[in-house]
Amino acid sequence: MSEVVTTHSAEETIAWGREFARRLSAPALVLLSGELGSGKTTLTKGIVAGLNAASEDEVTSPTFTLLHEYGSGVKVFHGDLYRVESFHDLVAAVCGEVGACERG
Ligand SMILES: Nc1ncnc2c1ncn2[C@@H]1O[C@H](COP(=O)(O)OP(=O)(O)OP(=O)(O)O)[C@@H](O)[C@H]1O
Ligand SMILES: [Mg+2]
Repeated sequence: MSEVVTTHSAEETIAWGREFARRLSAPALVLLSGELGSGKTTLTKGIVAGLNAASEDEVTSPTFTLLHEYGSGVKVFHGDLYRVESFHDLVAAVCGEVGACERG
């Protein structure tokens, strides 16, 4: 299934992120792809806020930390894959935080 959504402001993008979050149930992986400044972090603000994991203002680019963690009940990990050089790096980053990667 594919769907095209056009937004005309950051506010609209955040609102759609909140809407999209309602379709998610844990565990879920959402991958965002787009040019620099295309609105990935803005969309993430809506998704994280929609999951009640943090407020929009708390969501910032994880540029220097690789992974941001939001929420205490439902946890949301927001990573920047731009700097991840290998699948191993990604697994190490996520497993270090989640501690749940031993199965499989
Ligand atoms: N329709 C729109 N949706 C999202 N952001 C928009 C829109 N129109 C303008 N903007 C502005 O564009 C910028 C998008 O920046 P944002 O940090 O979300 O992008 P990004 O894809 O995460 O960039 P980077 O790759 O540098 O992390 C924001 O300043 C936002 O206010
Ligand atoms: Mg960003």
